[in-house]
Amino acid sequence: MTEASQLEIFNHPQRFIEGWYWLLRSPELKRGKVKAVSLLGRDLAVYRTTEGKVVAMDAHCPHMGAHLAEGKVEKDSIRCFFHNWKFTADGRCEEIPCLSKKLPLQLTTWPVKEAYGLIWLWTGSEPTQPLPFAPELEVEIVDFSLSKRFIKDCHPNVVMVNAIDAHHFNTVHNFPVAIAFKAETINQNVITFNNTTRGGGESWLIRLIQPFYREAGTYNMCYWFGSTGTVTLGPDFLHFYIMFALRLLENGKTEGETILMTKRRAGLQGWLFNRLILWATKLVGNYFAKGDTQIFKTIKFNLKTPIRADQSIIEFMHHVEQQKALAWETWEEVKETHHNDVSNPVQPNIANITTRMMEKI
Ligand code: FES
Ligand SMILES: [Fe+2]
Repeated sequence: MTEASQLEIFNHPQRFIEGWYWLLRSPELKRGKVKAVSLLGRDLAVYRTTEGKVVAMDAHCPHMGAHLAEGKVEKDSIRCFFHNWKFTADGRCEEIPCLSKKLPLQLTTWPVKEAYGLIWLWTGSEPTQPLPFAPELEVEIVDFSLSKRFIKDCHPNVVMVNAIDAHHFNTVHNFPVAIAFKAETINQNVITFNNTTRGGGESWLIRLIQPFYREAGTYNMCYWFGSTGTVTLGPDFLHFYIMFALRLLENGKTEGETILMTKRRAGLQGWLFNRLILWATKLVGNYFAKGDTQIFKTIKFNLKTPIRADQSIIEFMHHVEQQKALAWETWEEVKETHHNDVSNPVQPNIANITTRMMEKI
């Protein structure tokens, strides 16, 4: 067993992967207004300029530490409430009312984008990935609606693996088909799991709908940064798309937004059709979200006894471990920290898990 094989990121309550995370719903931030947001342990002041552009910066004023969200937006700048120092959208101190000269102060600002009705922030200096999308919708203009915002009592990684926990589809969700996934790593931050089974001949439901499927019944997951997942599912003629965008909270908990999506369709008819599709997508999402609620309240995730059916979960864990991890609050890169790590006492060994799986199938 080498030290490098320890799990350092997956299910760790104080680590996350550098990437895009949602901050607020777009309508929650009006022009000329500022909000305090705590993201992944870091205090941010997020404001919308009078022109409508969103700015996210570290919250505490470099003068005396006041929270800038107590201040006021002035065109595309923000003025601290306490002693009225003024900062531009790129974080420079532009004005100190009682001083004739400027001080060379620089607040850290973060890349932001708006999509799917949400404001997103990249937790590094330059984004190296686009915003998450469902692969089939990559080149489409997307129509969307937001469903429920939710809290779960376990880590985002643990919530995410639920969607590829093929084993529990039958036991929890009474899903009549056996599902088997094929994993494909798209890049360092993105991995897909596509269902390969057609099966379910013994179920009357599947026999009924099978003529509509040319290929395997579509159930595809695409994961971004181990914490946002898009589900694509349905018969060949109509695919539903749901994005679960999760972020880590204190004590290893999860807060998430559910985004229902479909491709934009032209005209009033298209618009009406899409309302119907998005409503149906919501029902599909609820069906999957329902059965697991209790599990997430009490689980202490520890894959002690892996079997063949858990293979996709192990592949996901491997994928998470390959990514660039940042530390809660500081957002500094975490390197080689498992020595004497007391913040996460349960450090299962991924190589051991895989070996045990092979032995126990
Ligand atoms: S604390 Fe912000 S201006 Fe003094
Ligand atoms: Fe589930």
